[in-house]
Amino acid sequence: MVSVLSNPALYEFTGGIPPTEAELADRYSRQVNGPSSAQKRWHNWIVRLATDNVAVGYVQATVGRDIAEIAWVIGVPWQGNGYASEAVRALKERLVDTAGVSQIEAHIHPDHQASQHVARAVGLHPTGETVDGEETWSWQP
Ligand SMILES: CC(C)(COP(=O)(O)OP(=O)(O)OC[C@H]1O[C@@H](n2cnc3c(N)ncnc32)[C@H](O)[C@@H]1OP(=O)(O)O)[C@@H](O)C(=O)NCCC(=O)NCCS
Repeated sequence: MVSVLSNPALYEFTGGIPPTEAELADRYSRQVNGPSSAQKRWHNWIVRLATDNVAVGYVQATVGRDIAEIAWVIGVPWQGNGYASEAVRALKERLVDTAGVSQIEAHIHPDHQASQHVARAVGLHPTGETVDGEETWSWQP
């Protein structure tokens, strides 16, 4: 995952910089341990290609009660193949079917066209609300 997340272009709209191996190991260790609040749950998945099992990105959700906040990243070499849309669709189905989620939100920079396409592709809609410069997108059944 260090190489998947290594291109600075990935952070154009979200901020941040490519993580080192030690930083990523620390991040994953914290993710495995889970949130300190009992009211929240974290779901983190690496996205792998079905053909050869290569890791190409990740999807994640923070679930509080029945609302999930989701995010997605696909490494630059694998972008433009529909992988984000496929992975986020699977994430959404999993959250609804097995985690009791009835509302999903994502926070997307207004200029981030690729993420807006992903959100629309999986049924999220822009709410017009902006938090810290990012628009809230939402899905409810
Ligand atoms: C956003 C991101 C995950 C998209 O990944 P991807 O695998 O290339 O997305 P997909 O191939 O599923 O494409 C989804 C849609 O976006 C469109 N798209 C892809 N790249 C685009 C671009 N640069 N500009 C405009 N549209 C774009 C595709 O045409 C497709 O549209 P469609 O559904 O109408 O056909 C990827 O660009 C990324 O990881 N960016 C950096 C991390 C990030 O900002 N994550 C968002 C945090 S919420």
